[in-house]
Amino acid sequence: MKMAADVGVIGTGVMGSNLARNLAGQPGIRVAIYDRDVERARAVAAAHPEAEFLVAASPAELASMLHGPRVAILMVNAGPATDSAIGDLTAVFEPGDIIVDGGNSLFTDTIDRGKQAEQSGVEFVGVGISGGEVGALTGPSMMVGGTEAAWRRLRPLLEPIAAKAEITPPETDPEEVPTPTPAEALQTSSAREPETAGEPCIAHVGTDGAGHFVKMIHNGIEYADMQLIAEAYALLRDGAGLTPGEIAEVFAEWNEGELESYLVEVTAEVLAHTDPVTGKPFVDVVVDSAGAKGTGAWTVKTGLDLGAPIATIAEAVFARSLSAATMLRESGRTLDGPRPSAAPSTGSGHASAGTGSDDGSAGSRSAGTSAGTITAGDRAADVETVRQALFAGKILAYAQGLHEIAVGAREFGWDTDLGEVARIWRAGCIIRARFLDRIADAYAAQPQLSSLLSAPYFRDSLNDTQQSLREVVVAAAEAGIPVPALSSALAYYDGIRAPRSSAALVQGQRDFFGSHTYGRVDRPGTFHTLWSAGRSEVEL
Ligand code: 6PG
Repeated sequence: MKMAADVGVIGTGVMGSNLARNLAGQPGIRVAIYDRDVERARAVAAAHPEAEFLVAASPAELASMLHGPRVAILMVNAGPATDSAIGDLTAVFEPGDIIVDGGNSLFTDTIDRGKQAEQSGVEFVGVGISGGEVGALTGPSMMVGGTEAAWRRLRPLLEPIAAKAEITPPETDPEEVPTPTPAEALQTSSAREPETAGEPCIAHVGTDGAGHFVKMIHNGIEYADMQLIAEAYALLRDGAGLTPGEIAEVFAEWNEGELESYLVEVTAEVLAHTDPVTGKPFVDVVVDSAGAKGTGAWTVKTGLDLGAPIATIAEAVFARSLSAATMLRESGRTLDGPRPSAAPSTGSGHASAGTGSDDGSAGSRSAGTSAGTITAGDRAADVETVRQALFAGKILAYAQGLHEIAVGAREFGWDTDLGEVARIWRAGCIIRARFLDRIADAYAAQPQLSSLLSAPYFRDSLNDTQQSLREVVVAAAEAGIPVPALSSALAYYDGIRAPRSSAALVQGQRDFFGSHTYGRVDRPGTFHTLWSAGRSEVEL
């Protein structure tokens, strides 16, 4: 048995102990663990003898257990706990050793910490690790920052523990793939085992804080994806009158097609769950006030600083804030407006939702809906319309997140390959989805793609689904169902399509009251109108 360990893990909470177990499961790898709560580390080692952990009682002892040059991975809470752990380690580490921060740290903190660690010759590497507790144990997606040299040293250690992704070929014709019944789909959806073959979902995405930046955007996209799904649920529940159990079957069926993803799969499971205490649908006993640890807000704040239009991600963050604004919502209870009053079911026994196809062919909604509902009386068509709207919203949200990565990489000097980012998000992480294969394909075909939306697959998908997105936003507004993420996705889509935007008037207003100047469409230069002196125009 090796007496010296190959890697140390600091922090033996669920994420840290699962990652340590994943590492210890790799052939020839010995792991030393340390926690400020030494008893917790000892308990983890006792609970998992197969891992043969070395347990350190202090940072100094951890350092003595590691062969040089040392590698230690922090799995502690972002913020002060991370700073404290870094301080403990840099006191006992030597030049050439590496400290990896595997927590959800803010990328600007990681940039600062890297500069600080450099003064003592220690390499500091921020790694975004996605996939939650299960991912940490069975294979997370990892977004690695830091120097190329550090990446070369960390790759042999981290690549084997990463999730593996097989390439999913472009959609086969739905006729060739028998559509499972809703019950079958619900049964199989949670049975999926993590893939063991394929490409490891880990990449070096840029220097210093790039790893934590890309992870932050991953979480921003996660917020948007979850909000879009929640709005599709609200439309089917409050607008079309489906029960949570019926909607669970709809999501399980959608998960067999182009919407296949971990978050759609999870949604089907949550909606199918019955509260054991009351016997009611679980979703009906949960307080409708969403929490957030902050990574979504970071994505939006950074997007505002970068000038990246990420409205759908922002609306997802704001929707959580609004849901938690108890006083504000109390004050709104008596305000006038349509109340969602879903029409009784008129369709077949269950919503036989489509799974969609590349050509987006779908039932069209008949005109007219009764007040407070989105249903035009044909439930299957309504469900398909919502599915198409959700797919369109998802494409637009991912496009916004990837655009923010591109803008951030330019701003911070990172050589981030968006196709590689999409490839390592295909498995292990929370936003893993079949259509990430299509995103990877798009960037492989056109590495300098200006926007995901100009890639043929996504342009065509939006051509096929944008009308459903439009109809759903209109129907939701008429029914009084809030769909901020879907609405902002539509506004983003129409905004980037518009040949002329109303920003021309904004420029005129800014010049009128602030002399902020403007450009002219008919010639280059910067101009100002003397609004209070004859309104003549001067060129600056
Ligand atoms: C992941 C998750 C994880 C995140 C949780 C909670 O990629 O494994 O994104 O990093 O912390 O999802 O996030 P919120 O509390 O902000 O929803």
